[in-house]
Amino acid sequence: MSSAANARVLSGMRPTGRLHLGHYHGVLKNWVELQHEYECFFFVADWHALTTHYEDPSLIPQAVHEMVIDWLAAGVDPASARIFIQSQVPEHAEFHLLLSMITPLGWLERVPSYKDQQEKLKERDLSTYGFLGYPLLQSADILIYKASLVPVGEDQVAHVELTREVARRFNHLFGREVGFEGRAEEAMKKMGKKNAKLYEGYRKAYQEQGDMGALEAARALLEGQQNITLGDRERLFGYLEGGGLIILPEPRPLLTKAAKMPGLDGQKMSKSYNNCISLRETPDEVERKLRTMPTDTNRVRRTDPGDPGRCPVWQFHEVYSDVQVKAWVREGCITAGIGCIECKRPVIDAVLQELKPIQERAAEYEAQPELVRNLINEGCEAARDAARETMAEVRRVMSLEYKV
Ligand code: TRP
Ligand code: SF4
Repeated sequence: MSSAANARVLSGMRPTGRLHLGHYHGVLKNWVELQHEYECFFFVADWHALTTHYEDPSLIPQAVHEMVIDWLAAGVDPASARIFIQSQVPEHAEFHLLLSMITPLGWLERVPSYKDQQEKLKERDLSTYGFLGYPLLQSADILIYKASLVPVGEDQVAHVELTREVARRFNHLFGREVGFEGRAEEAMKKMGKKNAKLYEGYRKAYQEQGDMGALEAARALLEGQQNITLGDRERLFGYLEGGGLIILPEPRPLLTKAAKMPGLDGQKMSKSYNNCISLRETPDEVERKLRTMPTDTNRVRRTDPGDPGRCPVWQFHEVYSDVQVKAWVREGCITAGIGCIECKRPVIDAVLQELKPIQERAAEYEAQPELVRNLINEGCEAARDAARETMAEVRRVMSLEYKV
C-alpha cells in the first residue's frame, strides 16, 4: 500500500440545508476526487451549527438530511467515502472536553474567526463558551480520526493550524513512556534490516542537519510499514523528531484549488446574498435566473459595446467555457457583435448539463429516504469504530483507564 492510500482525509460541513453551485465548485468536486485517492470521512458538523444557531435547533434535522442528499447527488460515493453525523459519534465531545483541559485560553481567543464572526453576526449573542470552543471542537473532530489531510477553504486554515498546536501539546504532555528510546530501537528492528537502516539514515539527516526532505522520506517510509504495530509506529514517528510518542499526528490543510464560483450578481455565491443557483434548482428556474442576471451596465442597447471585465456573466464563462467560447465572448462583447442573451446561452447550457446528472442522482436518493438513513448509519458506525480506537488510547495515556 502506498503512503497516499494510508493517509486519511477528514472534512466537515455545517448543515446549511440545500447546497448550491458555490459548494459544488468550492468543496464537493474536490471531495469527490479525493475519495478515490484516500480513505475519506465526510461529516455533518451539527454541533458546530449549534455554536451559532443555538436558539433554533429545530431546523437542523431537515437541513442535515437535505445536505447529505446533495453530497450524494454531487457524487460523494458511500462505497468509497464514509458519511456520518458528528452528534452520532459522542466520542468527539469527550475528546473536546479532554483537549479543553490542555488548551490555553489565549490560543482560542487569538483564532481570527473568533472576533471576525462575532463582529459579522452582531445580531446573535456569540459571547458563549461554546462559540469560543468552536475551533477546538473542530480539532477534536480531526484528531480523533488521526486524519493527515483536511480539505478546507482559506477561512479554515487557522483552525487546522490550531489543531496542529493542540496535537503537539498533547503529544508533549502525554507522549512520555518509560524506556522510550529502547523501545523505539526495538521497533526499528521490526521493520527489517534494510528499512531500519534507511530510517536511521533519515533520522540522522533530519536531527543533525535539519534535512526536511529526509524527515518527509522517513515519514513516508513509516506510513508504508505493514508489519509494525500502531504503538511502534507512534514511537518511531516520535523518535524521528527527537521527542516522545506521537499519539496524535499533526494534520495538514489541503487547500481547495477551487475556481472561485461567482454568484448571479458577481459577488461570491452565498445564501446570504441571495445570488445562488442551488443544485436542485429546476432547469426552468436555472434558465430564468441566468437570463435575468445583470450584465455590464454600459450595454443599455444591443448596439452599445461592453466590457467583460465589468460583467458577472463573464465570470461564469471563466468557470464554464473553453478558450474558443471565451474568445467569441470577448470579441463579441467589445464590438457589440453579440447580444447578452446570446452570450449567456453557452453558460446556461453548461450549467444545465452539469446539473443534469446531479439532479438525477438527487431524485433517486429523495425517493429512498430509508437508503439515505442506512448509508448515514453505516458511516456513523465506521466513524465510531475509528473514534473509539483513538479514545481508548487517549484515556490510557491520560491515566483515565483506572478501576475504582
Ligand atoms: N468549521 C468548518 C466550516 O465551517 C466545518 C468543520 C467542523 C470542519 N469540523 C471540521 C471542517 C473538521 C474540517 C474538519 O466549514
Ligand atoms: Fe456580459 Fe456577454 Fe453581455 Fe458582454 S456580451 S456584457 S460579457 S453578457
